[in-house]
Amino acid sequence: MTTITVSASNTYDVRIGAGLLSSAGETLLSLNGGRTCRVCIVSDDNVFPLYGKTVAAALTNAGFSVLSHVIQHGEGSKCLPVYGEILNHLASEHLTRSDWLIALGGGVVGDLCGFCAATYLRGVKYMQIPTSLLAMVDSSVGGKTAIDLPAGKNLCGAFYPPHGVLCDIDTLDTLSDTIFADGMAEVIKYGFIFDRALLDILMRDKTAFDRETVIARCIDHKRRVVEEDEFDRGVRGLLNFGHTAAHGIEQHSDYTVTHGHAVAAGMGIITRAAEAAGLIREPFSPMLEQILADFSLPSDTDFTADTMTGAILSDKKRDGGIIRLVIADAPGHAILWPCPAADCEAFLARGIRQAKQN
Ligand code: GLY
Repeated sequence: MTTITVSASNTYDVRIGAGLLSSAGETLLSLNGGRTCRVCIVSDDNVFPLYGKTVAAALTNAGFSVLSHVIQHGEGSKCLPVYGEILNHLASEHLTRSDWLIALGGGVVGDLCGFCAATYLRGVKYMQIPTSLLAMVDSSVGGKTAIDLPAGKNLCGAFYPPHGVLCDIDTLDTLSDTIFADGMAEVIKYGFIFDRALLDILMRDKTAFDRETVIARCIDHKRRVVEEDEFDRGVRGLLNFGHTAAHGIEQHSDYTVTHGHAVAAGMGIITRAAEAAGLIREPFSPMLEQILADFSLPSDTDFTADTMTGAILSDKKRDGGIIRLVIADAPGHAILWPCPAADCEAFLARGIRQAKQN
């Protein structure tokens, strides 16, 4: 097992290893100062049938009183009505501030449960148990919690760090190829923005890479960034490589293009656009496209750049008329490049090859 301690507005451990689900009870007991309490597991209808029993039994055996709230899987559940249903359930069960929530699932469950934890009774403690690669390497660490609004993704949320994170790498075995590839987009992202050696590992080992080592390496990058800029005012923005275009792609596909696939396409688009604009000394888009293809990920989209404009304009990263675009200017190094919002569409268009013409 590998443990990474994140020291931000609160300090918490991220544990990474095989077979950790069955230690959830002992872990929670130690996080809660040896006291038992009531716990609500928030999960979805894909994950709960697979792992709900194991986690609930581990908690019950450690003395906790367990209830659960299972949502429908998918981004559509990250919305105001489902958020309200969970809060009403917690209130009807009279959960108090001494009780805990547990997010058991991927990024949707983690973001939604985290936002419930941030707001129910003005804040209760919660543990993240991510079961997707994407949630392990990105969304379960760093305290960004959110739901979507009809106007866009993650437009309502809070910075509210978890009080513990448990990454059981055995849960990756039940992921579909598509969902595993989603997480790989974020792993590849860390390589291009921070870690050239990680790219060498991925190019050498392909899908046979050592999971615990690579996941821990990504989480350690996230730790460093979150410790420096927890509230996303500077360097944390680098984690959004590919995301400005991705949010538009996700939104315009009605979320049928999943987050990681959209991020992969976004990284390809922004890199080709940056090359065309002369922002990169040594063009490397063929290398990026090859690594993405090795992990069955796209590097382009069928959408035109103008379909991304709405998402760009409601992007949280917009600073007045300026969008901070993340550009990897060499493999393993990234910069924030201020782009006038009015020019963003034309800039992205230079990176899209296969868009259908209107
Ligand atoms: N997922 C990007 C961040 O946590 O900042």
